[in-house]
Amino acid sequence: MKAMKQSLLALCMAVVAATAHAQTGVGDVVYVPTPQLVVDEMLLMGKVNKNDYLIDLGSGDGRFVITAAKKHGAKALGVDLDTFLLKMANENARKEGVTDRVTFREQNLFETDISAATVVSTYLLPEMNLRLRSKIMKLKPGTRVVAHDYSMGDWYPDEQKTLIVPEKKVGNPGISYIFHWVVPALAAGVWQSTLNIDGKDVPYEFTMEQFFQNIDGPARAGGVTGEMRGKMNGENIRFTITGKAAQKIVRHEFEGRLAGETITGLARIGEGAGAKQVAWNAKRIKRGDLVRAQDEPEAK
Ligand SMILES: C[S@@+](CC[C@H](N)C(=O)[O-])C[C@H]1O[C@@H](n2cnc3c(N)ncnc32)[C@H](O)[C@@H]1O
Repeated sequence: MKAMKQSLLALCMAVVAATAHAQTGVGDVVYVPTPQLVVDEMLLMGKVNKNDYLIDLGSGDGRFVITAAKKHGAKALGVDLDTFLLKMANENARKEGVTDRVTFREQNLFETDISAATVVSTYLLPEMNLRLRSKIMKLKPGTRVVAHDYSMGDWYPDEQKTLIVPEKKVGNPGISYIFHWVVPALAAGVWQSTLNIDGKDVPYEFTMEQFFQNIDGPARAGGVTGEMRGKMNGENIRFTITGKAAQKIVRHEFEGRLAGETITGLARIGEGAGAKQVAWNAKRIKRGDLVRAQDEPEAK
């Protein structure tokens, strides 16, 4: 049902765009500009700032790239295959006085080196987003991705919004869906740590499975077994373990930062007024892999 709705929207986007613009874009999707208010919201959602390097894949008239530079002080690159649109983007950059911070390149977006990006933006078809997904997942943890109207299949966004956009005539007219992801660090594997609880050293072991930013798996604390469940946000990790000890449900919360094979952070032990916060660090003793998504396209 979701796939059918997406392809109907995509078809609509293609048909209306083809009639609405003399220049139709070149490559795998026609040219449809993202309304400026949607561009503005997406750049805010991606927390774009002067330290960022944004890459817009299929840059059209350059509005993402130019706005990132002009309103947020970022450096930015746009790639497109349409020479007319590239010329227009360069003219717009000149008019807006941002030529020192932006570049437009005639290049296939699937062949573009995006490894230096700290933010990637797209307004592409769902299958194009899916084709880009594994490349995006290999970017530096913490890299943000913002997409207009179409998401990334089984990689559910960290944040999404629906905007009312009266001037939008394509896709779902009058409505824009915007999505935001943060590339997660790889936490999969077996981690061990020792927590000092009430003067006693208690050994912990977590076996983390990871599906995109989601982590879960069995946990052991002393002689007690339980379940861990949580999320990655770039290199930041946050999870809860729950288990049963002495006929009581016990819950511990962990948060920290993952760097290489180490996590350093804080653990909150216990509930309510009796809860204690203790320093926590963990070492990975066995590295794991991401769980493969069912909708991963075959490599071309
Ligand atoms: C829907 S428009 C989005 C334009 C702009 N990002 C925006 O949101 O306003 C998609 C753009 O991607 C370009 N495009 C399509 N396939 C491409 C490819 N394989 N490589 C580079 N650009 C491509 C088209 O020329 C078009 O300008």
